[in-house]
Amino acid sequence: MDFAGQKALVTGAAGGIGLAIVRMLREAGAAVAVADLDTTGLEADAYMSGNLTDTGYANALPQRAADALGGLDILVNNAGIMRRGAVTESTDDDFDISVAVNMQAPFRLCRAAIPIMAKAGGGAIVNIASCWGVRPGPDHALYCMTKAAIASLTQCMGRDHAHQGIRVNAVCPNEVDTPMLRTGFERRGFDPDTAITELGKTVPLGRVATPDDIAEIVLFLASDHARYLCGSLVEANGGKPVG
Ligand SMILES: NC(=O)c1ccc[n+]([C@@H]2O[C@H](COP(=O)([O-])OP(=O)(O)OC[C@H]3O[C@@H](n4cnc5c(N)ncnc54)[C@H](O)[C@@H]3O)[C@@H](O)[C@H]2O)c1
Repeated sequence: MDFAGQKALVTGAAGGIGLAIVRMLREAGAAVAVADLDTTGLEADAYMSGNLTDTGYANALPQRAADALGGLDILVNNAGIMRRGAVTESTDDDFDISVAVNMQAPFRLCRAAIPIMAKAGGGAIVNIASCWGVRPGPDHALYCMTKAAIASLTQCMGRDHAHQGIRVNAVCPNEVDTPMLRTGFERRGFDPDTAITELGKTVPLGRVATPDDIAEIVLFLASDHARYLCGSLVEANGGKPVG
């Protein structure tokens, strides 16, 4: 895939999947602005550290990226957090932070990016939702709710903005071997390497996804190879259903 001359903004760029997306986009010739709580040490073309729960920061990010890179062709809403538990085990803070990072931030970034892209004749937005937003998984009520919301928003925006040449699609992974998955195992007292190997046995393909498995789908959706996809939810699950 050739992204020469393309300008991209990637959130959650310091995380497991984010690092892979940024590396692959830059290897394919794109200039990439990276956003995360701390972007120190990342290899990129523009750096935009900040907290996506800061509404001013989130609203301004697409224009800042466009100013820094000389345009904005691609937005990847990848940042996310996972709070575990059923509703009865979830606090107000769990609810507020899940909604702020997984729903409100991508909403604000899309709202700000779409006019920039429309003015330039088009663009591509890729959101990272989850299989656990398309179907309900056990004991992750807020995570599933917020991922269902971003999946729905993707479908709505895919319809509403296709006429402007803007394609909005989402990747919906099942388990991916990243800090998000590993820290969850650590918190529950499991050795992450062993737990991930065991988890891999529950996947028909025989392993959980790597960040590169997901990043490659993101690049496909952002590329001209996906030129007729608008509002698609691409499940990447190695054959494993949610449940
Ligand atoms: N790992 C999985 O199993 C899995 C499965 C399905 C979907 N996903 C989704 O993939 C995306 C990437 O997750 P990952 O697995 O790479 O996780 P990760 O924890 O490695 O990366 C997430 C990144 O988002 C950033 N982030 C979180 N809150 C932020 C905030 N308030 N402001 C700015 N940045 C913030 C973090 O600093 C981190 O670098 C997420 O949206 C996640 O929900 C992950």
